[in-house]
Amino acid sequence: MQKFWRSFMLLGLILTLSGVLLAGCTEKAPTQPTTATIPEGELDPAVWGKVYPDHYASYLKQKEQTKGNSKYGGSLPESHLKESPAQVKLFAGYPFSEDYNEERGHIWALEDVTGTLRIGPKTISSCWNCKSPNVKPLVDKMGDSFWSTPFAQLKDQIKHPIACANCHDPKTMALAITSVPLLDALKTRGIDPAKFSRQEMRTMVCAQCHVEYYFKPDNKKVTFPWNYGLKMEDAEKLYEEISFKDWDHKESQAPMLKAQHPDYELFSTGVHAANGVACADCHMPYVKQGQAKISSHHLQSPLNHISQSCQTCHKQSEEYLKNQVIGTQDAVYNTKVRLETALSEAIDAIATAAKNPAAKADMMNQARSLHRKAQWRWDFISAENSMGWHSPKEALRILGEGIDLARQAQLKANLGVGATVGGTPGPDAGKTPGAGTAAEAAGPETTPKQ
Ligand code: HEC
Ligand code: HEC
Ligand code: HEC
Ligand code: HEC
Repeated sequence: MQKFWRSFMLLGLILTLSGVLLAGCTEKAPTQPTTATIPEGELDPAVWGKVYPDHYASYLKQKEQTKGNSKYGGSLPESHLKESPAQVKLFAGYPFSEDYNEERGHIWALEDVTGTLRIGPKTISSCWNCKSPNVKPLVDKMGDSFWSTPFAQLKDQIKHPIACANCHDPKTMALAITSVPLLDALKTRGIDPAKFSRQEMRTMVCAQCHVEYYFKPDNKKVTFPWNYGLKMEDAEKLYEEISFKDWDHKESQAPMLKAQHPDYELFSTGVHAANGVACADCHMPYVKQGQAKISSHHLQSPLNHISQSCQTCHKQSEEYLKNQVIGTQDAVYNTKVRLETALSEAIDAIATAAKNPAAKADMMNQARSLHRKAQWRWDFISAENSMGWHSPKEALRILGEGIDLARQAQLKANLGVGATVGGTPGPDAGKTPGAGTAAEAAGPETTPKQ
């Protein structure tokens, strides 16, 4: 009996100790005691801020515009086109070739969507999606007629940039999915959002917007191409099946796809997702705000708070972790630039060959189809916001495939007009590809292989 009590007490001691240890390493943020409540249907973050002043103060820091410790990201609305002129050619015939900036804080979403030159008289209200908490109640009221309503027509009713009501239930403050397109996409995939764990919700609130999407051809509704899964090929398969295109390329005439910002999809293929790490773990770490410890609502590059974002799990130095991120991004960036060069040369080859009356139609179509596939791969990584860091191996795999497909497109276009591998039809046209160069490279001294 005594023995039983001794082991019972020992067990108690172990449980208490492990409880203390666990509490120490999971760092639960203290939920703030509050008696006030948010009025139902309230969308204005300033009103929510009266009840949660520390969270509101943290949220307002999104106004800060700085490059910070970032090399490829940061919160300055820098032009992607100035930094990479090749992109103007890749987007020829599409508004992205005129205006395309780096993203910044959520609080800027309305200034940025109304300020971009990409918005014109033909723009529809689908473009309000992901920019404001006003969207959900409007869709509830208008149904699917919301999406194709002219953008300008709803301008007065879209009052707040992305705010509390996009991610929280005002009654309980629990995380909530309010995006109609995400709810639809989950239904398509047979996933019940009510079953998400709290940790999964810390990613899924971000997947409301940081995803690839297209406008459904019949009603222009924002739709996620997730029918077959989340990978780059899964979206491509759906787009092929419904013969979807965003535009015709002005120079190659290929039917093109524009990738949006598949942050969640790329992230899902990486080592952190596989280990249950959530977007909020790195982008909304616990920080001190005033007297309280809260989840940071100053969403930004984690490179600006490596100790809170990474060192909760990794014991290496800040310097090491920063260099790890930037070194990986450098590798992805350099590969991406090679793909831009390959795409640019493929576009030139197709445009040149298309002017030649001898061009074989089937080969030209194959070349265009290869251009479409190659550029989809480029854009999937280029439009994603982390310069590949969310899943480096997958990013490099996709870019590698893209380089191969772009060179195949160039080759097809050249062969379609009977040219040699390397270029436009000239005196060498019709010669076995590469034969001349191989013989020259071998040199006169080499004994021919038997
Ligand atoms: C393990 C940590 C980690 C997780 C988890 C994570 N990210 Fe990131 N994220 C980063 C890093 C590091 C960068 C690169 C920042 C830079 O270049 O300055 C980044 C970049 C970004 C950027 C661009 C930031 C900028 O300054 O331009 C966005 C947007 C983003 N992530 C969204 C997400 C979303 C959405 C998820 C979940 C689907 C997610 N991240 C999950 C670490 C993480
Ligand atoms: C982009 C989504 C998003 C937006 C917008 C947002 N939050 Fe949060 N909020 C979160 C996430 C994620 C957490 C962490 C929740 C968890 O771990 O359960 C959180 C946590 C909280 C908490 C719980 C305590 C804590 O710090 O973890 C409060 C209170 C809160 N947010 C208030 C607000 C207020 C007020 C606003 C508007 C000014 C706001 N949030 C805007 C995503 C968001
Ligand atoms: C309602 C749509 C929406 C939701 C929900 C959302 N985002 Fe965003 N996010 C955006 C948009 C739009 C931008 C770009 C705003 C701009 O440039 O004007 C952005 C920008 C960002 C940036 C760049 C900030 C900077 O300073 O460069 C980060 C980081 C980010 N989001 C992370 C997240 C994370 C993490 C979550 C989930 C906790 C999340 N977002 C949820 C739409 C959303
Ligand atoms: C919540 C915990 C957690 C956070 C926060 C976190 N990581 Fe990780 N990280 C992990 C886990 C778990 C692994 C997988 C380790 C393994 O498989 O051995 C990992 C793997 C890595 C790897 C190896 C990647 C690979 O391909 O094998 C690097 C590098 C890394 N993390 C950097 C970072 C950086 C930088 C940050 C902050 C921006 C960060 N991590 C934030 C848990 C975390």
